[in-house]
Amino acid sequence: MAGGHRLLLENAQQVVMVCARGERFLARDALHSLAVLEGASLVVGTDGFIKAIGRADAIQTLFSEETFEERIDCSGKCILPGLVDAHTHPVWAGERVHEFAMKLAGATYMEIHQAGGGINFTVEHTRQASEEELFCSLQQRLQCMMRAGTTLVECKSGYGLNLETELKMLRVIERARRQGPIGISATYCGAHSVPKGKTATEAADEIINNHLPKLKELGSRGEIHVDNIDVFCEKGVFDLNSTRRILQSGKDLGLQINFHGDELHPMKAAELGAELGAQAISHLEEVSDEGIAAMATARSSAVLLPTTAYMLRLKQPRARKMLDEGVIVALGSDFNPNAYCLSMPMVMHLACVNMRMSMPEALAAATINAAYALGKSHTHGSLEVGKQGDLIIINSSSFGGLQSTTVWKQVSLMICQVPLSDESSGQ
Ligand code: NIG
Ligand code: FE
Repeated sequence: MAGGHRLLLENAQQVVMVCARGERFLARDALHSLAVLEGASLVVGTDGFIKAIGRADAIQTLFSEETFEERIDCSGKCILPGLVDAHTHPVWAGERVHEFAMKLAGATYMEIHQAGGGINFTVEHTRQASEEELFCSLQQRLQCMMRAGTTLVECKSGYGLNLETELKMLRVIERARRQGPIGISATYCGAHSVPKGKTATEAADEIINNHLPKLKELGSRGEIHVDNIDVFCEKGVFDLNSTRRILQSGKDLGLQINFHGDELHPMKAAELGAELGAQAISHLEEVSDEGIAAMATARSSAVLLPTTAYMLRLKQPRARKMLDEGVIVALGSDFNPNAYCLSMPMVMHLACVNMRMSMPEALAAATINAAYALGKSHTHGSLEVGKQGDLIIINSSSFGGLQSTTVWKQVSLMICQVPLSDESSGQ
């Protein structure tokens, strides 16, 4: 072989492919042993895609005539896919530290919400913030996420509720998406809370009749790109019927359904999501047995959020039951002003300790299964030839080094994200 390549990662102790046969997700027994190569090397092409992975000596023979823009000696280190964060609210203004004090004094999330705080507090501040201010804070947050190993992240709107501010948030997300290098899946979450002075039914009507047509128009003009539609389906927020109407209307526009369900009260949100063909349902602390079975059959992934259950002292979602029943389990940081965590290694650690997930399960949940939750597991979430060359190198001889510590800085991380060539990114 002759010609040039972008990057050679040589002689790693482990190349953790996660899966190696083009699987779109991992469930049940497939989670017991992930695809791992020992003493291996990996090649990324100038187009940003993985060209080869294999035993170090085989890659050396195959590419001996090649030139590389960069070579990295990975002896004693471990290469993993870039982490995927399947649920975040990263565009907002106004800290909620005072609410942490209220919660420590015994107030519940919903008590604060009903008193006009919580999401409503953040909505007021986000409405007042300039687009530039929101963009700058988003960029800083995304950089922190990247430093902790995230290379693809879902980003929600939802602190505007009115059309003007929802669009402002989506434009900010779009700008970050175009700028890179972190990959973004954009979610319209105009149904994050019922705006003051409206009922849930009125808010749903406004979204269906005004917001969604505007998103369609801006999408067809190429001004913003929205991937997913979200609703906070919860007692005192959006009931099951309003949730159904909004999600179905979003689906009719071609958006993937990816919503908050069964968090604080059992709502039968999982059953609804499975019926509507949801790509992902988040939280699920209060999911029913029937909901779990329906999600497994429909292949609607469960995005579990260990930081939220921890912060709000909720009961843990039943990760073990979901895994045993064959649900596709993914993880997200749920970064927001209430649960301020930008680190997927921390999220995996909490999933292992508090949700009793094994280290391979947590890694699959933060890579291939999180990519599935975003409808991107054909390009992201594993190290396989033809996939995007988003990867991290950790100064540990096995991937557990990323999950077994709460102080993730102990693991020196190096993030390689090779920009896709203009042709291959389609821009
Ligand atoms: O996923 N539960 C609804 N939404 C967020 C919290 C947003 C907020 O409190 O600002 C969540 O935890
Ligand atoms: Fe959330």
